[in-house]
Amino acid sequence: MNILVCGGAGYIGSHTVRRLIKEGYEVLVLDNLCNGHMSAIAGIPFVNADLCDQSALKQVFHDHKIDAVIHFAAYALVGESMGQPDIYYRNNVVGTLNLLESMLSTGVKHMVFSSTAAVYGDPLQLPISEDHRTVPTNAYGATKLAVEEMLRWFGQAFGLKYTSLRFFNAAGADPAGDIGEDHDPETHLIPVVIKAALGLIPHVKILGTDYLTRDGTCIRDYIHVLDLADAHVLALKMLLGEGRSAVYNLGSGEGYSVREVIKTAEEVTGRMVRTIEGDRRMGDPAVLVASAEKAERELGWKPECSRLETLIYTAWEWHRENPGGY
Ligand SMILES: NC(=O)c1ccc[n+]([C@@H]2O[C@H](COP(=O)([O-])OP(=O)(O)OC[C@H]3O[C@@H](n4cnc5c(N)ncnc54)[C@H](O)[C@@H]3O)[C@@H](O)[C@H]2O)c1
Repeated sequence: MNILVCGGAGYIGSHTVRRLIKEGYEVLVLDNLCNGHMSAIAGIPFVNADLCDQSALKQVFHDHKIDAVIHFAAYALVGESMGQPDIYYRNNVVGTLNLLESMLSTGVKHMVFSSTAAVYGDPLQLPISEDHRTVPTNAYGATKLAVEEMLRWFGQAFGLKYTSLRFFNAAGADPAGDIGEDHDPETHLIPVVIKAALGLIPHVKILGTDYLTRDGTCIRDYIHVLDLADAHVLALKMLLGEGRSAVYNLGSGEGYSVREVIKTAEEVTGRMVRTIEGDRRMGDPAVLVASAEKAERELGWKPECSRLETLIYTAWEWHRENPGGY
């Protein structure tokens, strides 16, 4: 099976590419490297193309036999999306429309799509299951929901088969130590805390201490990137086998506050992490915790590496060995 992995040079994409190859799939990575890294996909077939470039995309589907697409390519910064929703809609929604058009015009009908917990907005019930209402509180989440809806309509009209995977907060790194998380700017809590522990940044700014949570800071569900990679392989097998479109949450089911993550990171790394308190970031819900029962029931997926200590330890190892990133 030949799998095109869009955004495969990025953080979650590169870990998934590695897992796909281990499972015997032929992989072609498509990425424009706006946020990806060639070193994360060393030796893997690669095409440098932008999803916003329709003719480049058509060429890729013309030149390669592709059986299915896994689609990670997107802009994914909540804060940035609030100031620049236009570039988010262009990259995430128009880019995906281009991709779908190229797929369908060459008879490729299977896509696993990276969605996000940000489609839910402020939860009415916890943990959040897939049938929870979707009212995003930030533009990033709105673009992902727009794509999910596009997939549903394209399914009805054109027979597209898709799996939307709503990731909660990805973290951790491959214990092999040669690939990990390297975003610039880095806004994700665990790498930021580790950078502070390493002295690469002076402190962690806690974005909001007046949320209605147990210690006033936001609560999130952290899921190991290797568990996400496993879920992609299971979802792909299910999609290519049964051919039934579906939406799944991918989270650990445990929620940790910002202060709890910092405290655990201090214990795991043996380093002190300095903090300062700042204002809330626009668009951030107070609590996001997944129910991933559906993925467990239907895909047979069970997170194996998502204990908070494991997440932090594997990320710590990567950042300690690669303090400047790739
Ligand atoms: N990291 C998380 O915690 C998290 C949580 C929920 C959902 N997601 C989603 O998962 C996906 C991957 O996240 P990540 O953290 O690995 O992000 P990332 O930025 O590391 O990876 C995205 C990749 O897509 C590429 N890309 C972006 N726009 C492109 C375009 N127009 N054409 C070609 N390539 C393009 C980038 O260069 C990058 O390599 C994203 O879609 C994100 O929205 C991530």
